Formats: sequence, C-alpha cells, structure tokens
Amino acid sequence: TELKNLEELLTITPETLIKITDHFITELDKGLSKKGGNIPMIPGWVLDFPTGKETGDYLAIDLGGTNLRVVLVKLGGNRDFDTTQSKFALPKHMRTATSDELFDFIAECLKKFVDEEFPEGVSAPLPLGFTFSYPASQNSINEGVLQRWTKGFDIDGVEGKDVVPLLQASIEKVQVPIEVVALINDTTGTLVASMYTDSEAKMGLIFGTGCNGAYYDVVKDIPKLEGLIPDDIDAESPMAINCEYGAFDNEHLVLPRTKYDIQIDKESPRPGQQSFEKMINTSFPAKIEEDPFENLSDVADLFQNQLGIQTTSAERKIIRVLAEKIGERSSRLSICGIAAICKKRGYKSAHCAADGSVYNKYPGFKERAAQGLRDIFKWESKEDPIIIVPAEDGSGAGAAIIAALTQKRLKEGK
Ligand code: BG6
Ligand code: GLC
Repeated sequence: TELKNLEELLTITPETLIKITDHFITELDKGLSKKGGNIPMIPGWVLDFPTGKETGDYLAIDLGGTNLRVVLVKLGGNRDFDTTQSKFALPKHMRTATSDELFDFIAECLKKFVDEEFPEGVSAPLPLGFTFSYPASQNSINEGVLQRWTKGFDIDGVEGKDVVPLLQASIEKVQVPIEVVALINDTTGTLVASMYTDSEAKMGLIFGTGCNGAYYDVVKDIPKLEGLIPDDIDAESPMAINCEYGAFDNEHLVLPRTKYDIQIDKESPRPGQQSFEKMINTSFPAKIEEDPFENLSDVADLFQNQLGIQTTSAERKIIRVLAEKIGERSSRLSICGIAAICKKRGYKSAHCAADGSVYNKYPGFKERAAQGLRDIFKWESKEDPIIIVPAEDGSGAGAAIIAALTQKRLKEGK
C-alpha cells in the first residue's frame, strides 16, 4: 500500500492539468502587467518575424545549457543554414567563479574558435549573437541585465548588471574583432530558428537543466511596455517574449508539491525560486528508466556507486516503478506552459519547437508530453493539432538570425 500511496501522490490527472493550465494563463497575464508577478515575461526586443530569407555569416555563443557552445552560422537565405560549432565543457567551478573568470573563459573559447575558423585573420568585426539563458531584463536587443542566476549558477557581481559590456570587455582583452550585437534567451533563439525553417512554428521551448518557453506577443497587448516603446515602433508590432516560466507558481498555489519536492527545494542553492522547473529536471530517474526491466543491473550499480546503497531485486522493481511515475509526472507538468500560451494566444494548431537534454534524451518524455496535451485539449481529431517538434539547432542559429534581423533594422535606420 505504501507504493500505491506514492504512485497516487505522483499521479497528475487531466483535471489537475487543466487547473494548473488555467492558473498558468492568469500568471502569464500578470507577468505582462505593469505590476508584474512570479513569471518575469521578459520582452526580448525581437520585433520581426524571420522570413527565411536572411543571409550572412554570424558568430554565436550559447551559455546556459550543459555545454558552452561557440557557433559559426552561415544563413543561406532559402530557409536554410549551415553551422560549424565547438563545444567547451564549462568547468564545474566556473558556476561559482568570479565574473571576470567566467567572461574571460568565454572570450578565450571564442578566440580559439575564431583562430581555427579564420586562419588568415578577420578584416571587419564579426557580428555576434549572445545566447544567455538566464532571466535578463532588456530595454533593447543588445543588452541584458541579469535578474538572478538560475540552474545552480552563483557568480558574484553579475546580478543587476548588463552582461553585454562584461562580455565585450573580455573580448577586447583577447583582441579578436567581434561585436556583440544581440543578446537572446535560448528559448527565443529556438523559436526564431525554428520559424526560419518552419512556418508553423509558434513557440520555442527548452526542456533541459531548466524549463522555459518563448512566443511572440503583440506590443499593444503588453501593458508593462507602456512608455518604453520608441515612437517608430508600431503598437501592432510583434514582440518576442521570454516567459521565464520556470518560476511559475513560486507562491505554491496549484502545483501538487510533495514533501520530497519541498525537501529538494530546501536543499537547492536558491530555495523558493524556480518552483516549476525544480519539479522537472533530473538525470537520475532517466538512468533508472533506461535500464531494461529484466534484472535492473544498471540500477543496482547506480545505487551502489552513487549512494553506497545495496538493493535487492524486489527493491529495484519498486524503484523502477517510482522512476516511471516521476518521469511521467514531470513530462505532464512540463507541458502546462505550452497549453497556457496556446490558449492565451488562441492557437488552434501549432508546432512547438523543443530542445534540451530532457526533451532529447529522457525515455518516454515525448509520448507522455503529447498525452498531457491531449488530456488538456481533449481533441477529437485523429491527428493532434498542437505538437512538439524537435528544434533546428535552436539557439546558435537563432542568435545568428536575430543578429541579422537587428542589423537589417539598423540599416533601415529603425
Ligand atoms: C541546447 C541549446 O541544445 O539545449 C541550448 O542549444 C540550451 O541553447 C540547451 O540551453 C538546454 O539543454 P540542457 O539540457 O543542456 O540544459
Ligand atoms: C532557466 C533559465 C531560462 C532558460 C531555461 C532553459 O529557466 O532561467 O532563462 O531559458 O533555464 O535553459
């Protein structure tokens, strides 16, 4: 019965999903209001939809996932692009290093990459799009004031500062001709890159170390922008929004938190923050679900090596059942943000482009997430009208496309 109780505790019924989604919509609206709310709903100052015809060569940096990536993106102009990239493992101590150490490290990686890709040197400054996947407030496309670190990062002296000049200063130190022209979130990058290749794309999503989504709203429907919009920007103009909905329900009104969630939060670097995404991440249950059911020997090794706990075969079976419930719960919860945005914007059909290790690697995630959406929308059609699709190298290409859109606006004197 103890197992049955736990299973029940981890079950998310369709009714619960609908209740969470309804509250989510209220919170998205609150985030766009002047007063604000838990969900930051950050305007990203991407004021155009990509057409697929953008061209040019751009550099991009992607900081905020498992790896630091440096990418050279060649936009083909025919809804196509080529990328060359280098991944750099971010040393663990970097998450709690100093601001200079972090930005100098990024600049060194950039220099290494540019030296390799442009052995004959660079004549004109290379435009760079910086994907910085933390909540950063923007009053224009080429700035981002870090509100607070998320995902276990904790570097003093960056919160409250604009990270673009910090990066630019480190770039000057290594003397590579690069100009940071745009700062974006990974979700916004994923959105724009996917729209470049897929005209049905409506949202950019990350299910990984963090959980977040971006979509396009309309300037006139964002009350908190009142007084901040330059005259030459039309009220009907689109505006990309980085929701930062990992912070959904920090007030703990609707999420079915268990005593285990409460303990995880307490022991986390920032208790009380990112309540929603803390119910979605983690690699341990994924490894347990990857093990073929027969003897669960990988599970035995995992518990022995990681926790020093010896398990019996009967215990491992219970562990496996619980891991499945945990995985199912997190996938079902994680789609409430998608459902809320689709309902809010009135999308009857949509491609929601997704990236991140949970989406790409967690066993069963895709099927469970699709089922969650069906439970909320109760479609009668044979084919689901709102589907999650894999993103096209999300943020690297997205940063490049946004850099191209920014340069086009500047050329047009906007
Ligand atoms: C990558 C995207 O593939 O996924 C990054 O390019 C994103 O921009 C990352 O931050 C998120 O996944 P994870 O699992 O590395 O946190
Ligand atoms: C965290 C970050 C957010 C990012 C997400 C996915 O929620 O705060 O900026 O988009 O993780 O990487």
